Amino acid sequence: MAELNRIAVYTSGGDAPGMNACVRAVVRTAVANDLDVVGVRRGYEGMIEGDFVEMDGRSVSNIVQLGGTILKSARSDRFRTSEGRMQAAENLRKAGVDALVGVGGDGTFRGAVLFHEEHGFPIIGCPGTIDNDLFGTDETIGYDTALNTAIENIDRIRDTADAHDRLFLIEVMGRDAGFIALNCAIGGGAEMVLIPETIANLDDIKDRVLTLMLAQTRSSIVVVAEGEELGGAAALESAFRADPSFDSIDLRVCILGHIQRGGAPSARDRVLASRMGVGAIEALIEGHTNVMVGVQNGEVRLTTMRSVWSRKKNINFELLKLTQLLS
Ligand code: F6P
Repeated sequence: MAELNRIAVYTSGGDAPGMNACVRAVVRTAVANDLDVVGVRRGYEGMIEGDFVEMDGRSVSNIVQLGGTILKSARSDRFRTSEGRMQAAENLRKAGVDALVGVGGDGTFRGAVLFHEEHGFPIIGCPGTIDNDLFGTDETIGYDTALNTAIENIDRIRDTADAHDRLFLIEVMGRDAGFIALNCAIGGGAEMVLIPETIANLDDIKDRVLTLMLAQTRSSIVVVAEGEELGGAAALESAFRADPSFDSIDLRVCILGHIQRGGAPSARDRVLASRMGVGAIEALIEGHTNVMVGVQNGEVRLTTMRSVWSRKKNINFELLKLTQLLS
């Protein structure tokens, strides 16, 4: 294996609570192993622009509890081009970087593998996304915090929904995956949940909602995943309003949006992120590349980055049955 003296760490894609805890663990584990560390600001964009900062154990003091990412994040179109990647490689070589640790989602890992193939830098990934949609780890960094934020907000909406006997459609994030939606529906006691992993039939949905609202005269919460196939909460609202059977129903929509991405990471995310950050440096020292550090059944495990995006992490359909049983 080529010499390993100096590593670079970056966060990329949508930020996720716990990214800072991961960066802290990467930096401190590297320092403990006599490695120098360079922080890359704004992910692949910063790599292309040479936006680097020297880091040591002290530069990551007091960040374990912070949401967002002190290294900033970005989605980079330029890194999709070979010229962009060439520029990034040149900058990293000039800065004396031997290997990389990237914290992000599948887009981050796709970029990393391409970059490794073209320019040879060993790269380890840590899964940072609220969506929890990555194969190879039971949970991603940020998911637990986002889930708790969603549930906390559903609780608040339930108070006002109940006071007015209203129907609320609450849209949660997750891109093409329903992990946040399904689990916050259970934890928030929602009457119904719509996720991208199931086939949606508008007539069935309307029937179920009408039964809930008209037969029982009470408030109802429907959690709608943003990637759900009918088009999310706003599309569903239009479909309901266009149907005269819904005339007597007091309907409101709440899109939780980026609220789910912010805030202090939960205890679970801090611990997960710390374990993954340590695992990333250990993996580099052991000579691995193009792998993601995950935690499966409580154990730190490496998975090839390629399988992270080519294999699908399945939703637990038993949980879907649970939402129906408990509603
Ligand atoms: O991947 C994380 C995520 O928050 C998704 O849940 C959401 O679809 C997307 O990012 C939003 O991206 P942006 O912050 O670029 O609007």
